[in-house]
Amino acid sequence: MVSRACCWLSWCLLISVISAEVQEHGRTPKAQKKRGFKAASPGEVKPPGAPGGKKPEADLSQKTLQMEAAAPSLPASSILTLVLGRGRFQKVGDSLSLRAGDPLELRCRGKVVHWRVPVYLEEEGKERLRIKHFSRHSQLQLVNSTGADTGEYSCWAQHCQDGEGAEDEARQGKTFIFFTDPEELFVPTEDYYKVVQLHSHQPVLLPCQVTNPLAHVTLHREFPPEEVPVDGIDISFDVKKGFTIHRPRASLAGALFCLASLGGLRQISTKYMLIYIKYPSSSPKPTIQASATSVQLGENFSVTCTALGEPDIAVDFIWEHPGQKLGRPPYVSEWASVVRQEGQVQQEAGSTLHVEEARAGDSGIYTCRATNLQGTGTATTHVRVTRSSHVSPAPS
Ligand SMILES: *[C@@H]1O[C@H](CO)[C@@H](O)[C@H](O)[C@H]1NC(C)=O
Ligand SMILES: *[C@@H]1O[C@H](CO)[C@@H](O)[C@H](O)[C@H]1NC(C)=O
Repeated sequence: MVSRACCWLSWCLLISVISAEVQEHGRTPKAQKKRGFKAASPGEVKPPGAPGGKKPEADLSQKTLQMEAAAPSLPASSILTLVLGRGRFQKVGDSLSLRAGDPLELRCRGKVVHWRVPVYLEEEGKERLRIKHFSRHSQLQLVNSTGADTGEYSCWAQHCQDGEGAEDEARQGKTFIFFTDPEELFVPTEDYYKVVQLHSHQPVLLPCQVTNPLAHVTLHREFPPEEVPVDGIDISFDVKKGFTIHRPRASLAGALFCLASLGGLRQISTKYMLIYIKYPSSSPKPTIQASATSVQLGENFSVTCTALGEPDIAVDFIWEHPGQKLGRPPYVSEWASVVRQEGQVQQEAGSTLHVEEARAGDSGIYTCRATNLQGTGTATTHVRVTRSSHVSPAPS
């Protein structure tokens, strides 16, 4: 009997635990649902304006979320517009053409707006340029425009007032504006010629910019007079920038210029004096070796540093050695020779530091620094100078 009553009791207990669990589980999703769609359930309709009637607020926050999510996919130029006249706006694209002399008015949407204009305009055209900030946008006005005002105009709007907003919070708009001048096909520059260094491993720009995107532009050598082929791979042309030499070579050195033609007009650009500088692809990685790691007092020894690299690249060696403290003058010999390794022609450059009649002070670390136009590489070794009396005789 007793065991039966006990069994019944425990069965009752089990049932109540299960039902409590079910209630608990049932409640949790309900609570979550309530938070998300507070005013959405039909059973909870409240008169507008009643306390707890959160419908308008919930909708608003949802809208804000949607807008934020959509913002990154908007075109970058969407905050920048061109003002055509009173209340007439035009979204700007990648580039646009205006006539030199025409006024320009741009508008950038945002609370805190910064503008960037071509360098020439920033330096020389301040009195023709006016920027005004309003509560929700900023306005850029340019009067008496010239072909030299051709270039990129951009603005960016920050969300935060104090300028501490992260860069990715800012939105940007930009466009390239050509101010076409029927008499000047090239954006004028101050210099009659410009020296351009051609480094063997670095693309270089010949910045002959045109004022009219319709101009036909070619690249020419002054002497012998010939057109330089532009294949889009080794050399390419961008109407907003000029010619880019992607793979500089020694044969391109000399005087080059750009030629623009449009209608019956043909004009040449500033001359570019191209100087070719053979540039190493990497800094030297020297190796160091002493003629002996342990020498006796009074003996001669040497330390040699070598660097393998591309031919015709100058390598300079600098030594640091313990004898410097003794006032020992450096006795160094240097060489460079062409070697073939795995079918490749390479240059081995080297430097040998000779130490005569070793003294105790010559013991220590020997450092060689090998430098080319790309940088410096370092190698070290250790030489020990011992007294002959300390050297145990070799076993016979
Ligand atoms: C623009 O050009 C006109 C006519 O040449 C001149 O009177 C005016 O001062 C110029 N404005 C500015 C801001 O340079
Ligand atoms: C060390 O070098 C000097 C100069 O080359 C030479 O005169 C001298 O004999 C050498 N000494 C020894 C121990 O080899």
